[in-house]
Amino acid sequence: MSPHRNPRVLTTALLLVLSAACTGASAGQDAPDRVHGAKPGAAGAGDPLFPKMGNGGYDVTDYRLSLDYTPDSNRLEGTARITARATSALSSFHLDFAGLHIRKATVNGRTAKAERRGTELVLTPAADLPKGRTFSTTVVYDGKPRTIKDPDGSKEGWIETDDGAVGLGEPTGSMAWFPGNHHPSDKARYDITVTVPKGLTAVSGGELKQRETHGRHTTFHWRSQEPMASYLATVAIGDFDIHTTTTDGELPQYVAVDPDQAEDSTKVPDQVTGVIDWESRTFGRYPFSSTGAIVDHLPGLGYALETQTKPYFADAPDEILLVHELAHQWFGNSVTPRAWKDMWLNEGFATYAEWLWEEDHDGRTAEQTFRDFYDGTDDESGGIWDFAPADPPNAAAVSDPPVYGRGAMVLHKLRQAVGDKTFFTILRTWVKEHRHGNADTKQFIALSERISGKDLTKLYDVWLFGKDKPAKP
Ligand code: TRP
Ligand code: ZN
Repeated sequence: MSPHRNPRVLTTALLLVLSAACTGASAGQDAPDRVHGAKPGAAGAGDPLFPKMGNGGYDVTDYRLSLDYTPDSNRLEGTARITARATSALSSFHLDFAGLHIRKATVNGRTAKAERRGTELVLTPAADLPKGRTFSTTVVYDGKPRTIKDPDGSKEGWIETDDGAVGLGEPTGSMAWFPGNHHPSDKARYDITVTVPKGLTAVSGGELKQRETHGRHTTFHWRSQEPMASYLATVAIGDFDIHTTTTDGELPQYVAVDPDQAEDSTKVPDQVTGVIDWESRTFGRYPFSSTGAIVDHLPGLGYALETQTKPYFADAPDEILLVHELAHQWFGNSVTPRAWKDMWLNEGFATYAEWLWEEDHDGRTAEQTFRDFYDGTDDESGGIWDFAPADPPNAAAVSDPPVYGRGAMVLHKLRQAVGDKTFFTILRTWVKEHRHGNADTKQFIALSERISGKDLTKLYDVWLFGKDKPAKP
């Protein structure tokens, strides 16, 4: 029985001991092990579509991951060093972590009790964590990381390839390869070090700080300087040809290409440069310190992912797919939804970037694409009326057509209502005001009304929140 829940059972003596500890007066220690009012942190971040993802009571500022991977046996050895700040007084807290064995867990250097409950890892530190205190946690783990099947049936988590593996995280896969606060509302900086057999390359987000070979192993040290949501973290291990250059805007660019895809990817490095240049002119300054792409060979994956600074492609991408994934660097990666139901802020915007690109490169006008979606003649328009883009009915639906196609249609309606100049000011202000942060649908609506000076209630009610297909405009 917990004395916190039933104080009547406490004896006077016990109360005295507790109050002494709460005031920091326990004998022989600088800091008390018990903190008044400390409670277990919540098992979720309060996301209605993904109740178990993320955790309560703390905010991660830094992840330092050291990984050692052996492709032949698919064995991963990892150490995760997590720096976080307690947002409430904690007697224990959760991390999201699926599979693998825990070898050791510490909090502030002292061994912590580690319990597994499904995909929750519950750590009970030797000493409670006071509200506001920054603390560090180390988890040492190993084993064969698992592939996770998404609510929508696709694969993510840790996926083996013919020459290595890749870690993919949207929406929940990152918990398969490192423990963390796996919800987009908790962005952090990442430092990822990966050791692989000599001859293979380990690619990750951010910039390559160091590459060192010792005997039969090579270690790659990557650093993401800007905050990142955990679903955007990746590691791709395998045989890669590396193409480095500098974009027109002087950004370092790193493109890794699986030799199997080399023939179909010859244009990719130049296309990345061109797309980043056009998107920077369209949406405002590129939000990260470097750019690039990972072109792997993973037949059957069925999707690409906008992993931060280097989107991941399961085979050679065409230009419009590069436009989509690179547009996410602004919409999704720099400005990240606070909750998964706001996915249209990612996918609707990245899809509209495709329409704008086409319009600007001698293709259909966005107006024509809008009509093709409305009439159902565009290849990607199937299923777009299934639900309102701002209201996916369940976890599986966050990657469904209404979020993409109808999400883009919302932006086109906005553009028609406010005119081109104001529309692009709205987009640029959005990425500027929420740079490297989190935002939600309400904030986008408010910003668009503030900048245009128009009441857009009706437009959003019909196109963004309306369940049914709107009448032909
Ligand atoms: N975000 C990816 C893209 O735009 C698609 C995707 C992959 C996705 N996994 C997802 C979208 C999970 C929503 C949820 O290409
Ligand atoms: Zn997308």
